[in-house]
Amino acid sequence: MTAVADTPVRDAPVLDIDPYAIEVLRDPYAFHHALREAGPVVLIKPHGVYAVGRHAEAKEVLADHTRFITSGGIGIQDIRKPGDFRIPSRLLEVDPPEHTQVRAAVTRVLSPLVIRRFKESFVDKAAKLVDELIERREFDGVEHCVEAFVLQAFPAAVGVRLPRKETLIIGEMRFNQSGPKNALYHAAMEKAQPYLEWFEKTVQRDAVLPGSIAELLFQAEDKGELAAGVASNIVRSFVGGGTDSTISGMGFALHQLARHPEQWAKVHADPAKVKAAFEEGIRHESPFQVTYRTTAAATELSGVRLDADMKIGVFMGAANRDPRHWERPDAFDIDRPQLAGNHLAMGTGAHACIGQMIARGESEALLSELARRVKSIELAGVPTYRPINQMRMLNKLPLRVQPK
Ligand code: HEM
Repeated sequence: MTAVADTPVRDAPVLDIDPYAIEVLRDPYAFHHALREAGPVVLIKPHGVYAVGRHAEAKEVLADHTRFITSGGIGIQDIRKPGDFRIPSRLLEVDPPEHTQVRAAVTRVLSPLVIRRFKESFVDKAAKLVDELIERREFDGVEHCVEAFVLQAFPAAVGVRLPRKETLIIGEMRFNQSGPKNALYHAAMEKAQPYLEWFEKTVQRDAVLPGSIAELLFQAEDKGELAAGVASNIVRSFVGGGTDSTISGMGFALHQLARHPEQWAKVHADPAKVKAAFEEGIRHESPFQVTYRTTAAATELSGVRLDADMKIGVFMGAANRDPRHWERPDAFDIDRPQLAGNHLAMGTGAHACIGQMIARGESEALLSELARRVKSIELAGVPTYRPINQMRMLNKLPLRVQPK
């Protein structure tokens, strides 16, 4: 155990709030405040897990893959335990040295050349979709805009066929499955049952599209750069990690731009600013609210004693609004200095999002096309959220646009 000289080691304060209660999932900000104020590390009583909500500790846990490992799974369950087992992601839920090798092989596949090729295809798709949206004038910013775009652009790049209904049901299962076994978990697992076989087939070699990222991953397996069976697991991680997250993040950026006409005016005048709008969107309302690590051994964090083999939830949503780190944390401000690389919405450290260039490419393509061609955008109704254990996501975002 490492102890800090001038900080006596103490037990974690206890917080008796369920982060997975429906009302907290719908509006997590009071919980985030309570979590940050209770201490640098707290014990969440209803689930018997540690949690961090301040930026400094969240960053420390994510950056230290030796003390805080992912092979216990990035959800609240320890997937190494009987009864809680599920197939781990061979990238996100493995520790170095295995992680280092797999990550290097996948990074080679996602070369700048490959990313550039797909970014160009995103631009074409964005132009066509924005034609339709302008024609409509009023539309749902989720279903008709960000979701429609991501479901066209992303599966084509990865090389998988993802029909809307099946994809959304599998996504909902994945992000409820990483939470506790509550009503949301059971409902999502049951709803997904009929589609599990379809999904498994979708990520296999004979189903993926030629010239795609998935095909490159299978070729890496052929060359021995990835162990047998890993390519389809990574394709599954890409679909899981890259679909709902991007829909969610782009939805948040669009929502806030619609609420703040003066910020829309800035992106309309200079569409390059959509990059900052996307980063601020995912800082302000983080798609992945929480990810978990497991303590490799008994340790200490900011003067708090942590037992071995315990789950610790890193609440990125709370850290991304920690007033210790951010000025006016609740404000959406696309001119905020030093955004990318500072917020934790894409993680940090060894497991930092490997698809972030793709997510940024998609958001830049769609948001800059909208910014160029739409003079003003406003809410045409009240936005709603979908309660999901691990993820924050808009359900409906009624929008009205005025073309240039
Ligand atoms: C706005 C969109 C996205 C957000 C907010 C996001 C967020 C994250 C976060 C927070 C992590 C780290 C999780 C942890 O440390 O426990 C992560 C890792 C990962 N993401 Fe993303 N992601 C996005 C888009 C994508 C896309 C488009 C892909 C697919 C190409 C992707 C694939 C992955 C994978 C495979 C990992 C694991 C990396 C590793 O363990 O080395 N993500 N993402």
